[in-house]
Order: sequence, then C-alpha cells, then structure tokens
Amino acid sequence: MQAWLGDDADLPTDGGLSAEQADAMIENVIGRYGLPFGIATNFLIDGRDHLIPMVIEEPSVVAACSNAARLFRAGGGFTTSADDPVMIGQIQVLDVPDIARAQSAITAHRDELLAEVNAAGGSIVARGGGARDIEMRVFPQTAVGALLVVHLLMDTRDAMGANAINTAVEMLAPRIEALTGGRVNLRILSNLTDRRKARAEGVVPANQLASADLSGADVVRAIVEAGVFAEVDPYRAATHNKGVMNGIDAVVLATGNDWRAVAAGAHAYAARDGAYTSLTRWWADDDGNLRGSIELPLAVGIVGGATRVHPMAQLALKILGVDSASHLARVMAAVGLAQNFAAIRALATDGIQRGHMRLHARQMAMAAGAGPEQVAQIAQTMIEEGNIRLERARALVADLQKE
Ligand code: MEV
Repeated sequence: MQAWLGDDADLPTDGGLSAEQADAMIENVIGRYGLPFGIATNFLIDGRDHLIPMVIEEPSVVAACSNAARLFRAGGGFTTSADDPVMIGQIQVLDVPDIARAQSAITAHRDELLAEVNAAGGSIVARGGGARDIEMRVFPQTAVGALLVVHLLMDTRDAMGANAINTAVEMLAPRIEALTGGRVNLRILSNLTDRRKARAEGVVPANQLASADLSGADVVRAIVEAGVFAEVDPYRAATHNKGVMNGIDAVVLATGNDWRAVAAGAHAYAARDGAYTSLTRWWADDDGNLRGSIELPLAVGIVGGATRVHPMAQLALKILGVDSASHLARVMAAVGLAQNFAAIRALATDGIQRGHMRLHARQMAMAAGAGPEQVAQIAQTMIEEGNIRLERARALVADLQKE
C-alpha cells in the first residue's frame, strides 16, 4: 500500500474516521470497523480516465473490475448518461371522500404547492434544485380502503436528497389533507428512484476475448447466453445483479453514500415489470463484438451526509474527480457493467473458482496468523498441494515459526 496521492492528501492509515466523528455519526458507538479500500484502474468513461475507489470485503472484485475496464477500453471505453437528480417523495392519503375530486384539487393547486416547497429555500434550492412536479397514483381497493398516493418530484442536485425530500413531504402533508379532505399517514421518500437513473454502455472487441481454448466469437456467444439466462430466470438474475452490485456498492460505500438505498432501488427497478430480471443486457453487435448496457436508479450524492463527514469518503470523491452527483452515478453505472462483465465472462469460460483460489489461500494464511512476509509463500504452498485449508495454513505457519 502506498500513500501515492501527494503532499496534500496522504492516505490515512487508521481508516480515516476519528472516534469523535464515529460517535457523532450514530448512537451507542463502541468502536470503528475497518474495511479494505482499493482502487480499480483502466476506466475510460466518456473519454476521461477515472480511478475508482472501492470499499469491499470480497476478494477478486477490484482486480476483476480493473481487468474488465481494460477490455472495454480497447472498445473505446464506456459511454454513460444520467437523468436529472430527481427524487420522489410519497404522501399516503386515506379516507378521501371523493378521489377524482381530490385529484382535481391537487392538480389545480399544483404550482402553488411546488412554490410553497421552493419558498422554504435551503441549499438545494439555492443551487438550482427544487420541487419540479406533483403526480398522483390511486389504489382503489386495498385492505385499508382506497389509497391516494401523492408523489412530489424534487431535483436535489448534488445531494442524495433524503433529508430535503422528507422535509418537503412533511411540509406539504397538511395542505394535501386540506385539499383532499383525506387523512395523511406516511410522508417519506421512495427508494425506487426511477426518475434518477444512470446508464452505461460499452463494447469489448471479440479479439480481446479469445483464450487458448476458445475463440473470441465463442466467448461472445457464451457471455450473451449468460446474459439471457439472467433476463429470463429470477433465480439467476438475483445472482447476476449481486455481481453488478459488487461493483456499485463498493463505490457507494467508498463515497459515503447509502448503499441500502441504492440496493433497494436497484432491485425494485429490476422487478419493475412484475418479474425480477437482469439490470444489464448483453448482445453481439454487427461486427461480432460484445456490447453491454446497464440502466438502474442511482440516488447518490457528493454533498451532505457521510460524504461530507467521513474523511475517506472525501478522499474517494477526490480520487474520482467527479463534479456532480450525476457524474458519480454515471461512473457507478460503468462500474456495475464492468463488474457484471467480469463475473459472467469468468462463469461462461473458466468458472470463478480458479481465480478465487489464490485469494482464498491468502485469506487462509492470514487467518492462520501468517505475518505479511509469509502470506504469499504459505498461499503458494497450499495451492501447489491442492490443500487450501485453515488447518494446513496453521501447520505451515507453525513450520515457518520453527525455522
Ligand atoms: C460473487 O460475489 C458474484 C457472482 O456470483 C456474480 C454472478 O454470478 O454473476 C460471481
């Protein structure tokens, strides 16, 4: 590990979070919990090189992601796009005497309601964000009667925006009750942030995929087949999307964003048409090269919350060099596509266990108490013996200690 960032940003060696900062973040703090912070390389996104900070406990992810990005680079890198950062806040209205009339009343007062939210001001409005629209959805028959659900759409600019949208819907609730004659129950954001999607697409030239045993065309076909498997079968889609989220969540975590929110949005979006499906698509283009795309909601910010408080999140944003929340979301989409490619390429060719063995052996060696200078040697011995087990690692550590 090297503190390579230069004079102004030496890499903290203690996880970057002081006990005082941790104590201010949550309740009943008894300590801090470290995770590896790595950098994925080779990412060319919209013509610009990016280094990708990733925080994750799982071996192989960072290496696989970097390797995948190298292959996409040979196809020109990733092309990405993102929607405006629009969050959805929900207001649940019950006991509405006349739903059609309530809807008309809200529509008639739409501009006034939006103005009311924006007049409350705040940093998001100051930065050009604010309430954009109101939509309504009706569930005529539920176990608790008819529901009118009012959606406030709010552009939260560079913030994830949970606080802003929750404040706004709480503020609007009494007005909604007055306009509808109903009773408001919940007022909370939706994590299905489908107005805030990011997309990435890229090509891996078939000739980059050839191996000793398989032609490039064979590998393209096998990857497309793997992609279709996840499109049609929810059992496979869950695992496929877990691989996508291996990449995305690692960047979400590194940048101090809310990975539960991002995961909830991703999986809800994957089930948007009633059947859970893949977040990515893979196909062979007219030249026989592999093309992949991804689209998912990504509600992430570069201001506010832990992104501001956690020194490592600040460092991660600096490494990324992103200038907006949308830029961060676009980078994450590219990372998700790369990670998915790496996983299904491995699965559709060698299988993933071969690559995992070396890292697994290293982990066993460390778990057995091997010092940093002994880990590689012990791992290598276990690989050669085909016996990668904790007991064997312990015996090898004991042997080395005797020497
Ligand atoms: C393991 O963390 C992720 C994979 O299972 C993803 C996949 O199956 O596509 C390898």
